[in-house]
Amino acid sequence: MSPTPRAATPALSIAPMMDVTDRHFRWFARRLSRHVLLYTEMVVAQALIHGDREHLLRFDASEHPIALQLGGDDPVKLALCARMAEDAGYDEVNLNVGCPSPRVQSGSFGVVLMRRPHVVAEAVAAMRAEVRIPVTVKHRIGLDELDRFEDMLAFVDAVAPAGAARFTVHARKAWTQGLSPKQNRNVPPLRHAEVHRLKRLRPELHVEINGGIRTLDEVEAHLAHVDAVMIGRAARDTPWILAGADARIFGCSDPGATRASVARAMVPYLARTLGEPRVRLHHVTRHLAPLFAGEVGARAWRRTLAQRADLGAGVIEAALEAVEEARRLQEQLAQREAAGGSGPPRDDALDPVR
Ligand SMILES: Cc1cc2nc3c(=O)[nH]c(=O)nc-3n(C[C@H](O)[C@H](O)[C@H](O)COP(=O)(O)O)c2cc1C
Repeated sequence: MSPTPRAATPALSIAPMMDVTDRHFRWFARRLSRHVLLYTEMVVAQALIHGDREHLLRFDASEHPIALQLGGDDPVKLALCARMAEDAGYDEVNLNVGCPSPRVQSGSFGVVLMRRPHVVAEAVAAMRAEVRIPVTVKHRIGLDELDRFEDMLAFVDAVAPAGAARFTVHARKAWTQGLSPKQNRNVPPLRHAEVHRLKRLRPELHVEINGGIRTLDEVEAHLAHVDAVMIGRAARDTPWILAGADARIFGCSDPGATRASVARAMVPYLARTLGEPRVRLHHVTRHLAPLFAGEVGARAWRRTLAQRADLGAGVIEAALEAVEEARRLQEQLAQREAAGGSGPPRDDALDPVR
């Protein structure tokens, strides 16, 4: 077999998330960082083979670098899907070996594949034989009773020879019974040190850490131990952190974006996609809602986006005006307080809850 291709490997990626990392989210994320690696939502191999392929594979050229995440356990089908991914222009294809949802378990893929490393190895080998783009694996530290560091190492050692170009490790185990997928992302404790240890013991492998990482300071701290960091919910809930990534993580000059400039960059996109069949304003604006998280005006921003769908793409400018208004009121209040007056009672428009 040819040497394992290096993954198109940005030091930072945004995790695949069902119902989050759709094409609208990814377009938005790309306005925040030119270089972060983006993932699709998981696409089940069976659905890709029998379903609406064009819809499932669709992405915009500006989304590169972008990886397609597949779910499945049949090497032949996965190889077929990897070919579709390469033909569609994806930069990487990734296999989901981390999802514990009952539906996925009943299909015998996702995290339960950690019990069958030979199947994962076979799948990776079959995909690699079919494509030139890197084939990567996202998995957990372990599952159920199979949760010692040595178990994870045995899994990785079984799959690595097949040529996986990266191992992305969600640093918590999964329970296959008794916990919902959401609980499985919160309840089992994070074990970051074991991912660092994996890289120490297998320095030749490309290791990416994932799980509970919320700031670029944390990203930088992990990069002292591993090759790359994947963030999920932090990118969804506080997307603005991505705006610092190109300068801090990728060593590029600071593009000097502001929240408002990123919001305005979404206007032509919103206008364009609203002209497509079945696209509703909310499909795009729901991803923009947390752009001002933690800032004065965050609530005014969210509320305007949610309530003024009648404005079409104009909703963004209206929401920016609402932010400005909240800021002005806040400043007035601060000035009054500084001048010794108690000022008017804090009004909702002042957005005390950020
Ligand atoms: C809403 C949601 C959907 C997710 N869907 C997927 C998925 O399709 N494929 C996958 O491998 N992981 C999925 N995950 C797990 C994330 O990729 C990631 O491993 C997890 O959220 C831990 O990272 P974080 O703490 O940075 O969020 C999902 C997580 C969330 C919150």
